[in-house]
Amino acid sequence: MSNVLKILKFPDPRLRKVAVPVEKFDKSLQNLADDMLELMYKENGIGLAATQVDRHIRLIVIDISEERDSPQIFVNPSFEVISDDSMLSFEEGCLSVPGFNEEIVRPDNIVLRWQDINGNEHIDSPSGLLTVCIQHEIDHLDGKLMVDYISPMKRDRIKKKLLKK
Ligand code: NI
Repeated sequence: MSNVLKILKFPDPRLRKVAVPVEKFDKSLQNLADDMLELMYKENGIGLAATQVDRHIRLIVIDISEERDSPQIFVNPSFEVISDDSMLSFEEGCLSVPGFNEEIVRPDNIVLRWQDINGNEHIDSPSGLLTVCIQHEIDHLDGKLMVDYISPMKRDRIKKKLLKK
């Protein structure tokens, strides 16, 4: 591993930084993505944003396959909600909020744009778990966490429990 990465935990203020777009598609970007994937697999996560490892660039890695053999890398991802008629409710977890799962409702009908590790542009309409996961990870890049979707009281309770760890 070229970088020693550690996952920041809520309420670490560095999780609130807004990540900047990736401009250089070089070896160091590939190395960071590889290291993030390695860490994500080690921690049994299905997604990880660079923000969570204190690298504030717009890079996320995901693997939603059961076999854990389908890594996906999204650089500079953004999405547009096509209609909010269709919403998905999913019990989400987060490596930065360990031990807690919360039911979160997100739009199902989105168009996603991103670049791959070489800078090539892509566009697609993801569905199901990938839609949820990608929105969760893009939130991280914008300094937003899943606990922002729940009541302040519940959020405070989670914060106190995590600070005690
Ligand atoms: Ni997360």
